[in-house]
Order: sequence, then structure tokens, then C-alpha cells
Amino acid sequence: MKTVHLRFLLCLGSLVFNTYAARCQAVQTDRIPSLKTVFQDDFLIGTCLNTSQIAGKDSAESNLIERQFNAITPENIMKAHILHPAWNRFDFELADKLVAYAAKHRLKVNGHTLIWHSQLPDYIRQINDVDSVRQYFVNHIETVASRYDGLIESWDVVNEALNEDGTLRNSIFLEKLGKNYIIEAFRLAQKAAPNTKLYYNDYNIEQPQKRAGAISLIKSIQAAGVRIDGVGIQGHWRADDVPMEDIEESIKEFSALGIEVMFTELDLSVLPNPWDSNIADIGRKAAYRAEMDPYPGGLPDSIQHVQALAYESLFQLFIKYRDSISRITFWGVSDGQSWLNNWPVRGRTNYPLLFDRQFKPKAAFYRVIAAGSVN
Ligand code: G3I
Repeated sequence: MKTVHLRFLLCLGSLVFNTYAARCQAVQTDRIPSLKTVFQDDFLIGTCLNTSQIAGKDSAESNLIERQFNAITPENIMKAHILHPAWNRFDFELADKLVAYAAKHRLKVNGHTLIWHSQLPDYIRQINDVDSVRQYFVNHIETVASRYDGLIESWDVVNEALNEDGTLRNSIFLEKLGKNYIIEAFRLAQKAAPNTKLYYNDYNIEQPQKRAGAISLIKSIQAAGVRIDGVGIQGHWRADDVPMEDIEESIKEFSALGIEVMFTELDLSVLPNPWDSNIADIGRKAAYRAEMDPYPGGLPDSIQHVQALAYESLFQLFIKYRDSISRITFWGVSDGQSWLNNWPVRGRTNYPLLFDRQFKPKAAFYRVIAAGSVN
């Protein structure tokens, strides 16, 4: 009898404790500082979102998104293969939902992306004649950009059009439409979306050679009398090797062109790189090897610390140039969402963002908040 009584008390105790712990955790997530509030006088704080997130499938994640961010970029929903799946057919269902979600939660949307050599609809690969490529190009930009004009804040009009040496990347657009296709894309977007900001977006454009290519590209758009409002430096870097000096120089040089500077896809990888460069070209992949996936069970404190310090230094720099920078967007809400779990090696466990797989703030989050709290 006594044992049964004791067991009952233990069970009751553990139930009360677990409920209390769960509530504490929820309260804790609600009570952590808010990035968008801490940086409200500096720049927008964004994240990319995908379909399940705009459907609000996970309430803890939804709360986090609403509390921490004031800008979103669709991770995939506004790419051409989803928006324009057949030659004569557009599918706006998901994009419209994303725009409605943003309106409901007062989030500014950066459309991503009108013209990109990657993730194109399959039928494009079958087209060979110049006229058809031009027809696709004009129709896509006019239809999509005009539909969301006034509803979204901005477009990445052209994405990743440069090689590492600053020359134009070979693509179906360069091949068929010639080197002025980027100016033409901005011209068409300007006409179709007069109320939407227009950006060029790329990775590694903080690097000197590629940066020089981006600067001459932007100047050529401006010289043609076409509007370009900003440049997005993607920011896919390694936590132990963030190119701080190049980033600072880039902020200075790009803002000297009279346009906004943004960091649009920020994440800091902690995993080994199979190559010796940081090229975020999703066409490049490497095979899985256990030594390439060293932290499947959790990130050691020493690496957390390195990452936290790297994020802190970055945000101190962003604060220094807050007058030139209009938005910092993380490429994902939490570590579990990150594309870096599957690139360049599929099936690894990476930890590149500020929130962990349970949506709890990491050391890096608190360092970023600290960087924002001193100004
Ligand atoms: O939706 C399908 C699913 O049905 C299928 O079972 C699965 C099998 O692989 O694939 C799913 O599609 C994947 C999609 O992400 C949604 O998860 C694609 O394979 C995968 O290629 C795609 O990757 C995206 C990638 O761009 C290519 O579009 C990443 O999520 C996205 O983070 C990444 O984002 C890019 C930026 O747009 C541009 N800058 C670089 C950045 C990182 O690569």
C-alpha cells in the first residue's frame, strides 16, 4: 500500500515537474530578446521561409518567426520552376499564400528570384531558338513582377550571374540573349513593378575579383538609365573563416554606388569543406564520408564559441555600417532547416544559424543580441 502511494506521489511529482518544465521552455522562448526589436533602428532582420512554415505547421517555430523577424524571402516558392511550370501556365498558389502570410504578420517580402540560371523549368532546356528564350524571359518578368507590385517590397531581379573572376557566367540567357540581358531584365522589371525595389544578388561578391565584376555590372545598369536599388551579398561563409576585411571593403564600395547593401542569405557553416573554396554553387556536390560529418550528435561548445564570436564580429561590422545596410536575412530559421545539411554533401548535420533544431537560441544568438545592444 505504502509503495503504491509513493509511486503515485512520484508520478504526480514528475507530471507537475514536466508540465512546469515545458511551460518554462515556452515562456523562455517568448522571453528571449527579439532580433527585429534590437536592430529596429539599424536594418531589417529577415529569414527565408518554405511551404510548411507559411502553413504554420509548428507552433513553436511560428512564434519564433513572428517574434524575431520583420522580413522574409521565399526559400524556393518564387523560383521559376515553381511559379512558371509550363510554357503557357503560371502557378501562383504558393506565392500568393506567402504574400498573404507576410501581410498578416507584417513582414516585408523580398521576391527571390526572377532570373537565375538554376532551378529553371524543364521546358527551358528544350528551347534552342533565341526568340523563344526571349519570349520566356519577357513573359516571365512581366507577368510575375507586375502581379506582386505593391504587395512585396523588392525583387532579386537577377541572381548569381557572375563567375568567380567577375566575368559573366555562361547561361542560357547569356548564350541566347547576349551580355545585355541583365540590363534588359532590370528594364523589364522596372516597367512591370514601378513600386518594387530591384536588386542584384550573388554569393562571394565580397571577394575582390567578383566584387569588381559586380560593380561594373551595376554601373552598366545605371549607365543605361535603368533603376537598380540595391545589391545582395549572400553571406554563405565558414564560421572559422569569415572574410571580414573583404566584407567591410564591399560595404564601402557598393554603397558608394548610391545603392542599398544587404546580406541576404547569411549562414556560417561549421563543417569541413570538401574543397578549398567557399563557392556556394549548388551544382557542385561531393560524396558523403564520415569524417566530413564530425558532429552528428551535437555541436561541441568550443565550436559553438567560435561561431558565436564570428557572428558577433559580423554584427559589430554591420552596426558600424548601419547607414549603408538595409537588411540582414538569415538563410533559414533554425539549424534543422538549413540547406547546408545537404550541400555540398548530402545528409550531414550542420549548425549554421542562430537557433537550434528545437528552436532554442544558441550562443551565437546571444552574441548577436549583445552586438546590437551596445549602440
Ligand atoms: O521539393 C522536393 C521534394 O519533393 C523532393 O522529394 C526532394 C528530393 O531531393 O527535393 C525537394 O526539392 C528540393 C528543394 O530544395 C526543396 O527542399 C530540391 O531538391 C533542392 O534542390 C532545393 O534546394 C534549394 C536550392 O536553393 C535550389 O533551389 C534550397 O532549399 C535553397 O536553400 C537554395 O537556396 C539558394 C538560393 O536560392 C540562391 N543562393 C544559394 C542558396 C543555397 O543554395
